[in-house]
Amino acid sequence: MSTPTFRAAVVRTPSGPGSIEIIDVPVAEPGPGEVRVEIAAAAVNPVDLGVARGLFHAMGLVNQPEHTGLGWDFAGTVVATGAGVSLPAGTRVAGLVDGFDRDFGTYAEQLVVPAADLAVVPDGLDLAMASTVPLNGLAAAGIVDLLGDAPTEGNRLLVTGAAGAVGGYVAALAQDHGWQVTGLARAEDEEFVRSLGAAFTTNAEPGWDAVADGAALQERGLALVRDGGSFVGVQPSAEPAAERGITVGVVVAHPDGPRLGGLLARTASGELPARVHAAVPLEQVADAHRAVAKGGVRGRYVLKP
Ligand SMILES: NC(=O)c1ccc[n+]([C@@H]2O[C@H](COP(=O)([O-])OP(=O)(O)OC[C@H]3O[C@@H](n4cnc5c(N)ncnc54)[C@H](OP(=O)(O)O)[C@@H]3O)[C@@H](O)[C@H]2O)c1
Repeated sequence: MSTPTFRAAVVRTPSGPGSIEIIDVPVAEPGPGEVRVEIAAAAVNPVDLGVARGLFHAMGLVNQPEHTGLGWDFAGTVVATGAGVSLPAGTRVAGLVDGFDRDFGTYAEQLVVPAADLAVVPDGLDLAMASTVPLNGLAAAGIVDLLGDAPTEGNRLLVTGAAGAVGGYVAALAQDHGWQVTGLARAEDEEFVRSLGAAFTTNAEPGWDAVADGAALQERGLALVRDGGSFVGVQPSAEPAAERGITVGVVVAHPDGPRLGGLLARTASGELPARVHAAVPLEQVADAHRAVAKGGVRGRYVLKP
């Protein structure tokens, strides 16, 4: 009897969207504490474009002999469970897989993951929408952890890229911690940024108490922080050097089922933003990457394996 397989999008020799291949991979059974999920939706994130063009291979962060899996976050349905897992088959879940050096990813029909990394998707939140939350929601929550509670004096926070996935969540979540938020975004994003309860600018002057750098402006973002303020970046492999007494941090998103559950609940209630630009079949992965690379897309492309 032939081994059952599922389809997954991978890169062997990464050189951009044209190097993405869809291959057949043997089905694996979940071990203790794990579940197998049938993936309904996987978000296309900026990091995936970097993996597909070999950016992280060139940095030495990927060392896969055969192929590298694409995709970090997903939503789908539990189809099999290992020992000790209480989630029944049929449960709608979302989650995140992290790390660059892996032969599997979420651009696939199936995934075996630890149950602890999953959150149940609330009724009323569709799986395409839910798949856009894990990576960027957890990254934003991590950025807010690094910012901490706003001091009573000096609570002016600039969020760069506030119309993006990470920036939009930070703009919303940081207000819970006393930050008075201004979002830096393009002129056409004003309504969206203000809908998050933030003030809006297209052209920030220096002098902010803190900057959360969702646009990955890096040194240009750091230059906007006042002396002695704080900066939180989004690129762990390129943390800007501290200067002028500024506290510099950089976020690294990790799976966290309970925290993701809270983010999904707040997404379902409409408190947090979630935007799907288009949901397309897995076969259109290269076109989706090309479209995202051009910039200006609002909301995520979501792949439907
Ligand atoms: N470290 C981690 O764990 C982690 C996790 C998630 C994401 N990230 C990183 O975080 C960054 C943001 O991710 P994302 O998914 O939020 O990306 P995104 O949705 O593309 O958002 C970025 C936003 O920044 C805007 N932008 C860029 N330059 C700008 C400028 N000069 N002025 C105003 N707006 C500007 C973009 O607008 P245009 O499209 O018009 O350019 C876009 O709206 C990426 O670098 C990603 O790799 C890191």
